[in-house]
Amino acid sequence: MRRVLVAGNWKMHKTPSEARVWFAELKRLLPPLDSEAVVLPAYPMLPAAKEVLSGTEVAYGAQDVSPHREGAYTGEVSARMLSDLGCRYAIVGHSERRRYHGETDALVAEKAKRLLEEGIVPILCVGEPLEVREKGEAEAYTLRQLLGSLDGVEPSAPERLVIAYEPVWAIGTGKNATPEDAEAMHRAIRKALSERYGEAFAQRVRILYGGSVNPKNFAHLLSMPNVDGGLVGGASLELESFLALLRIAG
Ligand code: 13P
Repeated sequence: MRRVLVAGNWKMHKTPSEARVWFAELKRLLPPLDSEAVVLPAYPMLPAAKEVLSGTEVAYGAQDVSPHREGAYTGEVSARMLSDLGCRYAIVGHSERRRYHGETDALVAEKAKRLLEEGIVPILCVGEPLEVREKGEAEAYTLRQLLGSLDGVEPSAPERLVIAYEPVWAIGTGKNATPEDAEAMHRAIRKALSERYGEAFAQRVRILYGGSVNPKNFAHLLSMPNVDGGLVGGASLELESFLALLRIAG
């Protein structure tokens, strides 16, 4: 019912020339897939993604978007620009943006709305920092963030929304949440989605896990009933390891 999604968040890595070579190699080596593969490079690599990956099974998208539609917003990139470049997905509310750029739930919700207006699927990230988990408040914190970031966000279909649970303490640390901990949070997220959008809708929204996903731990994470894929940082940069994740997803 929910197609597994493997999304590679490249963060601020690679150059456009390096990305072009990587995309071409991915296209050459891509196995037949039942799951869905998405690459999320920095903005300057999207034209190369469009050239090389259009017409393939691999989707691509952005790591962020402006909350504004158009206008005098120096340095910003609009959802309409991303749509013109063929982006099918974009991340919003990544913890690195929340932490280093002061993004609030309300801002994240505005960004998600701009994406939906342009037919782009938001990959909306939530997740607790370590001190919150240690206090035993991970679930309450994450669900509050989820509902705040979905305020006024009304996707026309469940396939138009993806949630990523990324516990902050698991990002880039090599410490992933146990599959059981991830499953417990994903179940709580789905329940909150069901209260927000209805049960039938919530059952079809994909919830990805992110935080030190690699080819060694991915199969176990994916075996959990509410884990519908991964949002992968470090392990998506090397083509070999991204391909390994795709083979695991099937
Ligand atoms: P790592 O896979 O490098 O831990 O990064 C996770 C992440 O933040 C993906 O968005």
